Amino acid sequence: VSNGRVCVIGSFMMDLIVRAARRPQAGETVVGSSFTTFLGGKGFNQAVAAARAGARTSMIGRLGDDDYGRRFLAHLDHESIERSYVIVDTEVGTGIGLPLVEDSGENSIVIVPQANSRVSAADVRAAAAAIQSADVLLLQLELPVEAACEAARIARESATTVILNPAPAPGDAGAVDGLVGLVDVLVPNLTEASQLARRGAADPDVARTATDLRDRFGGIVTVTLGSAGVYVLDGDGAQLIPAHNVPVVDTVGAGDAYCGALGAWLAAGASLRHAVRCANAAGALAVGTPGAEPAMPTRAAILSLLDGDALRVT
Ligand code: RIB
Repeated sequence: VSNGRVCVIGSFMMDLIVRAARRPQAGETVVGSSFTTFLGGKGFNQAVAAARAGARTSMIGRLGDDDYGRRFLAHLDHESIERSYVIVDTEVGTGIGLPLVEDSGENSIVIVPQANSRVSAADVRAAAAAIQSADVLLLQLELPVEAACEAARIARESATTVILNPAPAPGDAGAVDGLVGLVDVLVPNLTEASQLARRGAADPDVARTATDLRDRFGGIVTVTLGSAGVYVLDGDGAQLIPAHNVPVVDTVGAGDAYCGALGAWLAAGASLRHAVRCANAAGALAVGTPGAEPAMPTRAAILSLLDGDALRVT
């Protein structure tokens, strides 16, 4: 498979990760067991995942003019991710993520977007060449939705495949109406899918939720279900692809590993079902390593896991 091009418009968050037996309830204090800082943000994680999966990757976004921002710039270079369209904002600091990881590996996250919230439609227009030359555009919702809409419009005009990871899901499902008809592959988890389909909490009827989202957005839907696998609804119908049986250390970034690998394989010309199997393996590998960016797997690791499961791919 030749290397395709992936462009990511997305967020940078310096993750200040706390580990504790369980999350505190309102008014309660819980003593944690560890504290670590990692580079993160859904956009950055997905760019790293796409690059490690073999795609020629570029990123568009905003950082603060601070030490965190400089660490991101150095790491983009280290991963050979093109960053001509990453803007250093002199007025607002780099975004911050506050993930809390429970001993079960499950996580919950507070983000403070800061510079990410200043990515504008004009920033995106200035970076149109990066979108037009890409095979796949990866979008999430940690940036203003106007920027994501502008990027999707440019991608649509240049036949670049648009993958939307609607995370975090907006409180008002109507906030993403501007993206309707512009998304080729929608990649929510079950909570995000339920919120986008206006069903409140995670609706266990994934088939119904995915059908609603396919009807609303008009493209392919793959719902990531954690240990229950991935539900795919495309032109060939519906399929549940089972999860790999792996030990869970930390689920932060698993969805990003999935999206980055999905983008890389689709950009390289793989079929949707084939790309989903590779992405499913990437997500499984990510839960075995603490943090987000350090957990993004290489192409070799993904192929090796698939090989072990007799789902041989090349
Ligand atoms: O998807 C995981 C990411 O979500 C973390 O890196 C955190 O920064 C939040 O943006």
